[in-house]
Amino acid sequence: MAGPLRPPIAASYPVPMRIAVLTGGGDCPGLNAVIRAVVRKGERHYTDTVLGSRDGWRGLLDRDLVRLSVADLRGTLHRGGTVIGTTRINPFTVEEGVNRVFDTVAAERIDAVIAIGGEGTLSCTNELHKLGLPVVGVPKTIDNDIGVTERTFGFDTAVTIATEAIDRLHTTAESHNRVMVVEVMGRHVGHIATWAGIAGGATRTLIPEVPFDIDEVCHSLTRRHLAGRYASIVVVAEGAKPAPGTMDIPDETFDEYGHVRLGGIADRVADEIEERTGFETRVTVLGHVQRGGTPTALDRVLSSRFGIAAIDAVHDGLYGSMVALKDDHIITVPLEEAVKDLKFVQPELWSVARQFFS
Ligand code: F6P
Repeated sequence: MAGPLRPPIAASYPVPMRIAVLTGGGDCPGLNAVIRAVVRKGERHYTDTVLGSRDGWRGLLDRDLVRLSVADLRGTLHRGGTVIGTTRINPFTVEEGVNRVFDTVAAERIDAVIAIGGEGTLSCTNELHKLGLPVVGVPKTIDNDIGVTERTFGFDTAVTIATEAIDRLHTTAESHNRVMVVEVMGRHVGHIATWAGIAGGATRTLIPEVPFDIDEVCHSLTRRHLAGRYASIVVVAEGAKPAPGTMDIPDETFDEYGHVRLGGIADRVADEIEERTGFETRVTVLGHVQRGGTPTALDRVLSSRFGIAAIDAVHDGLYGSMVALKDDHIITVPLEEAVKDLKFVQPELWSVARQFFS
């Protein structure tokens, strides 16, 4: 005989949503891993429909969206770049931009947006949230300069690439008794330069946070070379600046979105070193090599964690927040907090780097 009827177990079923995801700003290794995680949990767990906004905010401005499924994202975990494209287009600087974004959201019955970007994209995301857009942010940038989160994905990959390049430059520098100046990315902050400089055994590292005195750099290189060691590696963040009055640098130029176009400081530093010390000096600008290609395992894991946390935050209604890493846990923080201040190189880390300068 059948036993007594049991009351049904109370179950809460997730409410399916239509979610748009976008990637804005410069690309970064790990973007596809975030998108894949959002789609995986969205489709499999929440039975959501996920739409990719092509080329950052442009897709929402022009109603250019693409359906993203688990099947579509296969094979993308280890791929650099972003399968949905990216631009620096900002709806606030485009005619009728904000209205067009809200029109697309209404017409496509989008319940929420996940915006993956750096400081520019996240600031814009925050402003759109204040106007009523239900949005969650995910921090990305190889520069690792977003406040509140301890790390952004892409940074570990960039540091790994830069360190490998420095390792290679050591042997050629030693063979020719040369000074090698290596320019790495980092427009406002010197995280990549500092980490790669420590990891690669740089003779000197120049970062935006600490204006440098070229005279002092040249004296220390001369001391080092007189002491019998010839090869030197000088790592320069692209945004590094000389102390006022110590060295002339070219005027800044801007891209179509008003961002300063950097690059070139390494050439100036190398010219000064060669002229002032007489040591043969060569320049390597790593540029976009640091941003391309496959993400490291660490970045893939962080991206996957951020993606899962972002879709959960959407379903928890945590709009106006950004996912972040704190004490190796993923948390959510108000976007307002996240975009307030850039994260600079910590004095403690900088003092470690300095110990190894010649
Ligand atoms: O913000 C990330 C970043 O990689 C910076 O380090 C660099 O200055 C900038 O993007 C380069 O951007 P673009 O792709 O426009 O040359």
